[in-house]
Amino acid sequence: MTEDRWKFVSHSPEETERLGRILGSLLRPGDVVALEGDLGAGKTVIARGIARGLGIQKPITSPTFTLINEYPLDGAFFYHVDCYRLGQHRDAGLEALGIGLADLPDESGIVVLEWAGRVANLLPSEHLWVELHHMHMKESFRDILAEGRGKRGGELLRTWRAKAEVKS
Ligand SMILES: Nc1ncnc2c1ncn2[C@@H]1O[C@H](COP(=O)(O)OP(=O)(O)OP(=O)(O)O)[C@@H](O)[C@H]1O
Ligand SMILES: [Mg+2]
Repeated sequence: MTEDRWKFVSHSPEETERLGRILGSLLRPGDVVALEGDLGAGKTVIARGIARGLGIQKPITSPTFTLINEYPLDGAFFYHVDCYRLGQHRDAGLEALGIGLADLPDESGIVVLEWAGRVANLLPSEHLWVELHHMHMKESFRDILAEGRGKRGGELLRTWRAKAEVKS
């Protein structure tokens, strides 16, 4: 495994949220976090942690039906996107364009996408990719694989890992 990949196990929703909080504290406008994983894997849980790490106190609900939830930050926005309903077909990218996804990210936005694999062709080359997987026989364990893509993605991965591995 290269230094641009990090694999770890979360043992509880609280641990996943904590990881998100640490990541959120590192993000700045222009950053993109792509979340992938099965139904109920914990994408929204980690997204909630990211929002908390950004200082957002509002309830974080899944944007399954709204597609995008927008939260104001100081001089920027946090966009929480759910690509589930964009489907898996070839023209998913076109549908995404239709909802304005192609305009994200911009310099004032921090973007977290659930089911990011469905808009893989629209992701900027620099992003942090995070996969969450259920583990057999372990109800509350999740295998999490993070990959830093591009310069900024790699930088985020290294600082996130360093902070998360400090025992708290
Ligand atoms: N280690 C864990 N990390 C995250 N969530 C966990 C963990 N263990 C159990 N859970 C539970 O799994 C569920 C994860 O739900 P969540 O909505 O975050 O999943 P999701 O990946 O966003 O699903 P969807 O594809 O429907 O959007 C929650 O009920 C949470 O309490
Ligand atoms: Mg979700």
